[in-house]
Amino acid sequence: MTEVLEQDSKSAVGHASKYTRNNPYYSTVTYNELLTGEGSEKETRHIELSLEEGMSYTPGDAVGILPENRAEAVSEVLTALGYKGDERVLDHYKVEISLEEALRTRLQIGKLARSSVNQLFKIAPDNAGLKEMAGPDNKARAEEYCWGRELVDLLTDFPWLIKEPQQLFQVVARLTPRMYSIASSQLAHPDDVQTTVRVVRYDSHGRNRQGVASGHLGDRAGTGITIPIFLHANNNFRLPVDSSAPVIMIGPGTGIAPFRSFLEERQAKGEPGDNWLFFGEQREKMDFLYKDQLQQMHRDGFLTRLDTAFSRDQHAKIYVQDRMQERAKELYEWLDRGAYFYVCGDATRMAKDVETALLDVIAKGSNGTLEHAAEYLAGMKKQKRYQLDVY
Ligand SMILES: Cc1cc2nc3c(=O)[nH]c(=O)nc-3n(C[C@H](O)[C@H](O)[C@H](O)COP(=O)(O)OP(=O)(O)OC[C@H]3O[C@@H](n4cnc5c(N)ncnc54)[C@H](O)[C@@H]3O)c2cc1C
Ligand SMILES: NC(=O)c1ccc[n+]([C@@H]2O[C@H](COP(=O)([O-])OP(=O)(O)OC[C@H]3O[C@@H](n4cnc5c(N)ncnc54)[C@H](OP(=O)(O)O)[C@@H]3O)[C@@H](O)[C@H]2O)c1
Repeated sequence: MTEVLEQDSKSAVGHASKYTRNNPYYSTVTYNELLTGEGSEKETRHIELSLEEGMSYTPGDAVGILPENRAEAVSEVLTALGYKGDERVLDHYKVEISLEEALRTRLQIGKLARSSVNQLFKIAPDNAGLKEMAGPDNKARAEEYCWGRELVDLLTDFPWLIKEPQQLFQVVARLTPRMYSIASSQLAHPDDVQTTVRVVRYDSHGRNRQGVASGHLGDRAGTGITIPIFLHANNNFRLPVDSSAPVIMIGPGTGIAPFRSFLEERQAKGEPGDNWLFFGEQREKMDFLYKDQLQQMHRDGFLTRLDTAFSRDQHAKIYVQDRMQERAKELYEWLDRGAYFYVCGDATRMAKDVETALLDVIAKGSNGTLEHAAEYLAGMKKQKRYQLDVY
């Protein structure tokens, strides 16, 4: 996953530079609804957040959310430590706050990092269990332990090693903002920024877990709630400057987000370039995100082509790259007339498989070898006609 670097906030967008990750804008949630239907295995939400006049973004940008840990998670940690929460600690800026506030707003008490195991071992070097997982030689063992666990599990499995609350700042990483691709065009929605968020929920080691930011947005960010945000520019994911250039967009799952933004922008500007969207999800009935809007755009002839791949609507899985292969001839024709090719969503598997399919499409279309296809793709990359926003 792409890490959000400290410098990111400095590259804030347009007039929005006043607000950064360290000086966020307190935005009001104006809309927060489920996009997925009953029976879906996903909980994917459409969320709209107010902006102050002068805050601006460009399609392709992201919005950073500064989440809070949920009260239950904070209280579980306090119980494991035997503290009440009113103990005083110094935060990362040496500002004195209560331990409760630190656990809620400053510390990553969710998904456990290997560094926490190493740091706890530094505090308790005689602990045999920690010794087995600490240091570079035991990386695999520590990673296996951390998977699906949180701070509370570490504190429960290795109790009473923390002797004073301040030590938590040594053991636990800082709670960092989470990025979400912007799903709207400001030309269509001047006063807000919209996102498409899949809420992470799972059970592991006997506990219900949730992602800190997506859980916050899923459970505790109803209409009217305030949440700290900042806008983050992504100049490597941009619509073509030439408004007549065709665009091909591959956006399964939440990967649809920036393409909704691209399409709204091109529509608002009346750009003449052709638009081709490949969308994939598990089931058409409950997982076709933004179905009505996309189908309307398609009916209007603005979204030139709309291809969908619903992986679980039939026995054998069908993915976006299968649709690309089925449309190889036409896809290559679009590329040959200068189309820009964009991919957004899962970095680990989907983006790689889509690139493999793209190489195949180019090889077939040009009657060339895969070697030639690789050169063709390198040329596209040089011209910034192949852009990725994957995580
Ligand atoms: C540039 C960029 C754009 C993004 N755009 C979007 C977007 O448009 N929409 C979107 O939804 N997300 C997007 N993301 C991902 C998003 O930033 C967060 O990473 C995501 O929402 C999870 O954050 P969280 O705080 O909810 O979960 P966290 O608290 O960070 O927890 C997630 C972690 O939980 C663990 N975990 C998850 N499932 C399981 C399981 N079943 N078993 C065990 N452990 C598990 C994993 O370690 C995982 O990394 C984007 C990321 C980047 C970098
Ligand atoms: N860090 C986090 O915890 C976190 C939180 C939210 C989202 N994300 C990431 O965000 C991305 C989008 O998640 P999402 O749930 O919206 O959608 P997703 O998991 O990408 O699923 C969307 C569609 O893509 C299919 N798919 C699975 N493997 C594929 C492959 N190799 N090639 C092409 N398509 C494939 C899925 O099919 P099947 O499911 O039927 O196989 C599904 O139909 C993923 O990277 C996800 O891991 C991460």
